[in-house]
Formats: sequence, C-alpha cells, structure tokens
Amino acid sequence: MRKRIVAGNWKMNKVFSEAETLITEIADALDNVEIENAEVILCPPALYLEMAMDVAFESNFTVGAQNVYPEDSGAYTGEISPLMLKELNVDYCIVGHSERRKYFGESHEFLLRKVDALLKHDISPIFCCGELLPEREAGEHFSVVKRQLEESLFHLAPDEFSKVVIAYEPVWAIGTGVNASNEQAREMHAHIRKLVKGKYGLETAENLSILYGGSCNAKNAAELFAQPDVDGGLIGGASLKAEEFIKIVLSL
Ligand code: PGA
Repeated sequence: MRKRIVAGNWKMNKVFSEAETLITEIADALDNVEIENAEVILCPPALYLEMAMDVAFESNFTVGAQNVYPEDSGAYTGEISPLMLKELNVDYCIVGHSERRKYFGESHEFLLRKVDALLKHDISPIFCCGELLPEREAGEHFSVVKRQLEESLFHLAPDEFSKVVIAYEPVWAIGTGVNASNEQAREMHAHIRKLVKGKYGLETAENLSILYGGSCNAKNAAELFAQPDVDGGLIGGASLKAEEFIKIVLSL
C-alpha cells in the first residue's frame, strides 16, 4: 500500500535559532500523533540538515534536502553533493521545484542528472512537476506534466523509479493563496498515475505516492487529501508554523 506523506518545504526561511524552535515544536507535537502508513518529512535549508537529523533521530519525522548538485564531489563552489547528504542520512531531496526551474534555469536534462545522482546513493527524489498559468489556460497542462516526467524520470529502471515520490505543484498555485480545486488536483493526479502505469505497470503506479503542492493549508488540506490519487502534500508557507503544519499532518 502506498505511503501517505506530508512534506514541509521551508525554502529560504528561518534563521538557525528559529529553525531549531520550529523543529522542536513539530517534533514535540508529532510525539502525540499516530497516523498509520504515513510519513512526515521536513526539508529545511541545507545549513540546518544536521541539526534536523539530530532531532529526527528521536522523533517521528524524516528529513529531506531542498537541493543537490549532481556530482559526488569536485570544483562546484557553493554546491552540496548527494554524498554529503548521504553521510548525514538524509532520506529525501526535492528535485525540479518550479523555483529552481525558474530562477536557476534548471532544465529537464539537469534534473535527470540530479535524480540519478540521488538514487545512486539511495536518496529518494521528491520530483516536482506542474504547469504555468498560461499553459493551463491554453489547455496544455496535461502535456506539460507528461513531458516533465518523460524527460527527467522515465529513463529510470523500475526498481529505481519505485523510490521516487512525485509532487504535482501547479506553478500558479505556489505561494499565491490560490490552490488547485479538488477537481483539478484529482484529474492531474489521475493523469500522472496513468502515465506511470503505462510506463512501469499497475503495481508500480499503485505504490507511487503523489503529493499535491501549492497553497495547501490547514483549511483545504483535508479535502485535497481526500481526493483519489492525492496521497498527501508538499507544503511551503503553511509548513513554517508548527500548529498549522500539524493540522495539515492530521488531515492525512
Ligand atoms: P506553498 O509552496 O505551499 O507556499 O504554495 C509549496 C511549494 O512550493 O512546495
């Protein structure tokens, strides 16, 4: 049975002392939460991964990175390698977030390399896909997402693909306060699962966790997560307050 997941993407927020407080608050709250077959993943800025791992060691959440460079080591000033993440025992890493695609020009091909580099070290990519507003308005959203998956993920062998988590994040919904409707989320998640089924077969498709992201919050999470094929959420803004984030976790 596929895992239900709530992942918090903190992006470039919180100084260290604030991050420590937030992580501790979330860890304490999770002590009292028992949700079957579910996982909570926190993705803080890279500087705080070690601290997060220390807290996670005695708590109910796992830790993900927000970014990685697709080489194990070398002259790549400022970058962080999958080997470094592996040594910290980080389990997940976000790949293909629309902010990386937009502000850092990350291409399908570069994202493919990141996916491969992570899987080589058994770190699961949380692969983000999603269309821009003009693409949705032009009715191209299904083909845009198809291409994103085909170009960066569908080269994987079935056993590698089974370690991937997909997050559908319509770009027009990220940080805007305008989430996808239940219907829009439902049909895109079904589309993604169908594409995966076509490529990897029924069992792999059924085991894949597909998260929704984009202005998901404590108010809309329960409805979104109740849609067939929506297996949880990738949460940005609403993951920065422990109380709200825990409400989202409880919506699983
Ligand atoms: P948001 O961001 O929840 O703030 O819209 C989601 C994301 O970018 O992962």
